[in-house]
Amino acid sequence: MPMTLAANANAQGSHVGEWRHPAAWDAPCTNLENAVRLARIAESGKFDLLFLADGNGVRQMDKPDLFAATSPSDRPGVFEPVTLLAALAMATDHIGLVATTTTTYDEPFAVARRFASLDHISKGRAGWNLVTTSNPGDALNFSHAAHAAREHRYERAREFAEVVKGLWDSWADDAFPQDKASGRYLDPSKVHVLGHQGKHFQVAGPLNAPRPVQGHPVVFSAGQSEQGKELSAAHADCVFAIESTRPAAQRLYADIKGRLATYGRSHDDMRILAGVTIFVGETEAEADALFQELEDLVSPAVGVDYLSKMVGTKMTGYPLDGPMPVFEEEHVGHTGIGKAIIAMAKEEGLTVRETYKRILPQMGGNMFKGDPKQIADIMEDWYRAKACDGFMIAAPVVPTGLERFIRLVVPELQRRGLFRREYEGRTLRDNLGLRRPANPFFA
Ligand SMILES: Cc1cc2nc3c(=O)[nH]c(=O)nc-3n(C[C@H](O)[C@H](O)[C@H](O)COP(=O)(O)O)c2cc1C
Repeated sequence: MPMTLAANANAQGSHVGEWRHPAAWDAPCTNLENAVRLARIAESGKFDLLFLADGNGVRQMDKPDLFAATSPSDRPGVFEPVTLLAALAMATDHIGLVATTTTTYDEPFAVARRFASLDHISKGRAGWNLVTTSNPGDALNFSHAAHAAREHRYERAREFAEVVKGLWDSWADDAFPQDKASGRYLDPSKVHVLGHQGKHFQVAGPLNAPRPVQGHPVVFSAGQSEQGKELSAAHADCVFAIESTRPAAQRLYADIKGRLATYGRSHDDMRILAGVTIFVGETEAEADALFQELEDLVSPAVGVDYLSKMVGTKMTGYPLDGPMPVFEEEHVGHTGIGKAIIAMAKEEGLTVRETYKRILPQMGGNMFKGDPKQIADIMEDWYRAKACDGFMIAAPVVPTGLERFIRLVVPELQRRGLFRREYEGRTLRDNLGLRRPANPFFA
């Protein structure tokens, strides 16, 4: 299997200062032409898929500096992702189209319908990133007084995924003959009425869409807690994982894949993608210079606000050059990423300023920086050492960063036999090397 490459398709980039860079495109906010261009660039580089993270609440209104400067993961003015991907499906032929939708505040019938529809529109290129919602404020837009606790969200997510998959299997693959001569539009023996009665959902079914081209659109998941990993093992075809060292990524990889057997699944039934921001230059010095340019576009006020967001605690009262405080208590919104940042700062004795500078370029995730050979070496090393099956790539400065990655690194990966020269198949599942699920209701 070739290495999987996914492009993080956020128009604002992956770094707080990025959209201000002279090479970043102008007016990235809800700009369809830019999105089309980015999709075509990624497809020209034979990327497996475009990935759109998402949420529903406008965030950081309590952090005025960050609010005004716009952190890429806050997305105060974006397209609804499935709508956007339906448009991008018409402008592309091969690339997979993966959108995030929450199990915490959406309904399984609506989600099953939306992604079945996207899978048909794109002729088998849809993916659903199943999340349990990281932003507590999203709750307030869905008639809840507060964000549900993690246990509850994951319990609901499990049942949600089962219902969605059951709905995708509502019809046999050949249930719609649409035969003008006989007058049979559909075959009534080929429908399965779900009749789901569970703790969180009661859903009669069937879905009002034919079975998706891929059987099931590709399911992504991205939680790193115990419950998150168990949910992935049960339901995810792909996992978006973020670890900042290879040993930690190897442990997470072995941990998640080790859980698959419990669900009757094998290692090859899942692709784990390591999230990484890649700064590549023709030379190492060029990559360093870009890194520095972006850092200079972020004021300390924005940096501190950003750190507050990442660790889930207001950091404005702490001296910039004093030690990064250690927060022990667990609360809603205090995610694995936040804990990892606090642990890193403690281990390395970082100040508040040093901590925000460390996390800004890669948003608390991972970063590879260097010339094309250095980047290909580290990607090959992670891939061969089973730290991942591929990468979820954020390339700094949109779209030039992605173009540069495709021009400089993709040929090197191809030369090493690590990455495809042509798409293998027609659907996202084909290209990811994932089986098309059989319909359990129709042998
Ligand atoms: C790499 C990664 C990407 C995520 N992307 C999103 C997202 O786009 N939207 C969202 O609401 N939550 C997102 N989440 C949040 C998870 O679904 C989950 O709610 C959160 O990580 C807390 O669960 P955990 O403790 O199991 O990690 C993401 C989490 C991770 C680790």
